[in-house]
Amino acid sequence: MQVILRQLGDCNIRRAEPSDLISVMEINLKTLPEHYSDYFYECLLAELPEAFIVAEIGGKHVGYIMCKTEFGFSNFKKLGFVKKGHVVSIAVLDEYRKKGIGNALVEESVNGVKLRKCDEFYLEVRCSNNDAVRLYEKLGFVIRQQLNAYYRDGEDAYLMAIELD
Ligand code: ACO
Ligand code: ZN
Repeated sequence: MQVILRQLGDCNIRRAEPSDLISVMEINLKTLPEHYSDYFYECLLAELPEAFIVAEIGGKHVGYIMCKTEFGFSNFKKLGFVKKGHVVSIAVLDEYRKKGIGNALVEESVNGVKLRKCDEFYLEVRCSNNDAVRLYEKLGFVIRQQLNAYYRDGEDAYLMAIELD
């Protein structure tokens, strides 16, 4: 059964299902240089369906966000060991950007990782990716670290994180 989380005009924001994964991979291939195996998508959906979310307009997939959970050192507290949500990847097709879809995907994934009792939520983003950094900052994420040569092409990443209540 489809779980519709919210509607933005004619765009449905809903939890992903296995039959959405091919379209999600297609959006990923068109929009980002970081790609993953089919198996990895399947695992993320199986492990954290609450925060694997798609945006769909009239049956066409236009965006996705997918996440995982981890235990590890806090990005905020000294010596703290916490449960963290981790945004693995988010993208919206170029033609559908600047309509609030990216914002809705992140907000709903925050709700998803809160359901799984995560203390914090974090992600890595290219330092040059101003659109994404601005989106995350508007939602309360803050830059906590700069990761040297994080990407294959040598670019640095910002590690951005938010504390969840
Ligand atoms: N009318 C006009 N502007 C609007 C409207 C509207 N109705 N709704 C939102 N906006 C504005 C927002 O205020 C925001 O403005 P700003 O950039 O000046 O702050 C801007 O549109 C973007 O916000 P959204 O629409 O919520 O986000 P969007 O759907 O455009 O998605 C995303 C953002 C996902 C970063 C997109 O640019 C993208 O897919 N980029 C390529 C892939 C990518 O870089 N992904 C992130 C990599 S990092 C990682 O995956 C962890
Ligand atoms: Zn990551």
